[in-house]
Amino acid sequence: MRAVFATGSLRARLVVQLLVVAAVLAVLLYFTVRSTADRAAEATQDAILGAATVSIAEQLRGGDGGVEVDLAYATFSMLGAVGQDRLFYRIDIGGETVTGYDDLPVPDVRPASLAAVFYTTPYLDTRVRIAAVARSIIVDKGPVPVLVLVGQTRQGQAAIADQLANRAGLIGLGFFLLAVPLSLLSAGSVFNPINRLAEAVGRRGPRDLRPVRHPAPSELAPLIGALNGFVARLRGTLSQTETFIAEAAHHIRTPLSTVRSEAEIALRQSTDERTRVRLRSMIRGVEASSRSASQLLDHAMVLYRSDQLEGVAVDLCQITRSLARAFGPTAELREVTLLVEGDAAPLCVLGDALLIESALRNMVDNAIKYSAVETEVRIVLATDAGMVRVEVCDQGRGLSGAGLTELSGRFTRGGNVGDVVGSGLGLTIVTEVAAALGGRFELVERDTGGTCASLFLPQL
Ligand SMILES: Nc1ncnc2c1ncn2[C@@H]1O[C@H](COP(=O)(O)OP(=O)(O)O)[C@@H](O)[C@H]1O
Ligand SMILES: [Mg+2]
Repeated sequence: MRAVFATGSLRARLVVQLLVVAAVLAVLLYFTVRSTADRAAEATQDAILGAATVSIAEQLRGGDGGVEVDLAYATFSMLGAVGQDRLFYRIDIGGETVTGYDDLPVPDVRPASLAAVFYTTPYLDTRVRIAAVARSIIVDKGPVPVLVLVGQTRQGQAAIADQLANRAGLIGLGFFLLAVPLSLLSAGSVFNPINRLAEAVGRRGPRDLRPVRHPAPSELAPLIGALNGFVARLRGTLSQTETFIAEAAHHIRTPLSTVRSEAEIALRQSTDERTRVRLRSMIRGVEASSRSASQLLDHAMVLYRSDQLEGVAVDLCQITRSLARAFGPTAELREVTLLVEGDAAPLCVLGDALLIESALRNMVDNAIKYSAVETEVRIVLATDAGMVRVEVCDQGRGLSGAGLTELSGRFTRGGNVGDVVGSGLGLTIVTEVAAALGGRFELVERDTGGTCASLFLPQL
């Protein structure tokens, strides 16, 4: 039972319940009207029947010669007006039926006066409603009891009651039909606050982790409370992740750079060739793990930030220039000329500066790393069919036929890297950033030797 109620539509359930209530009310209305109409018709008919009976009894005249019975036409026409009902009468004087049907049943309790007694009884082939009155008449100076009975079939009454009940039935049906759109409407209005709440929560930006304060009916308070509890936990977890990334970067890089500078000092001071070889390989190892750590954290940062992206205008020219400045010493060390072109006017894209910088840093890093000495690395900015393109071209070793799909896997390195240190995460970061910002990344080998890496981002 629980499983049945756990799914399906609440709205449908509410509508069905409202309709069932409406149907029950309609049926109740029908039966109430039917019985009330029946009783009302009976009371009316009884009043007429009683009046007719009393009027017959009153018209009896006593005298010396006997009783004069005068059955006025008006009396019967009053009864006949009600419908096609049959009439029976019986007048007993002094215990003898003097006129009418002598087998018309008399009441169990004899009426004491002109106040009519009513009863329903089977008679001949039908049921009749009978009014009985009694009085006494002076005949030959003595009182003689007189009993007057007038009976009437009740087809007319039944017809009236049926007619009223049918009308009530129609009203009930109309009421039910009206209840269908009304219950649909009211079910809709019950669920409106839920829909509005869902909309308000759905409209929120990816970083909007404020508690939900949307006005809602009190029945939704537990749901909103649970939602806010969940949001608070999520906020806690996210800020923990952010802190972890930042702290991990700091705690890994700092000791590694200390080891590295110590090893470099030792290398400078050492004269023993074997020790120098060892120190060099140690420096390389430290450099490799420092790079790996940086890139792992960069990658974690990219994943974390692209999950809760909130686009702001970012000027690619500015980022490129500052990157070129930062890479200046490295390029100089390898005797590589680093050139930036097309950065005269700002070229803005919608994105996240940290993500874009991380992508471009990896592209420039590869270009310098895989270049031979005394070559050129050219960074060109341009617009291209609604996209801003940042192209980093080198005159290095090329890709040896490998394509971006093979090289962009996590921890995947090419076969041409030789002794160049690296972790295989650079191109993964670039492709992820491009995807997160709605752009794309291309890596091609140049005909003249070397490689061109291009990042395309939608222009703002
Ligand atoms: N500019 C480039 N010139 C030559 N090869 C490149 C260049 N950029 C990337 N590659 C190839 O792609 C591979 C993956 O690059 P990347 O993911 O940055 O890892 P890493 O640089 O740490 O090896 C590299 O190992 C290299 O083989
Ligand atoms: Mg790389």
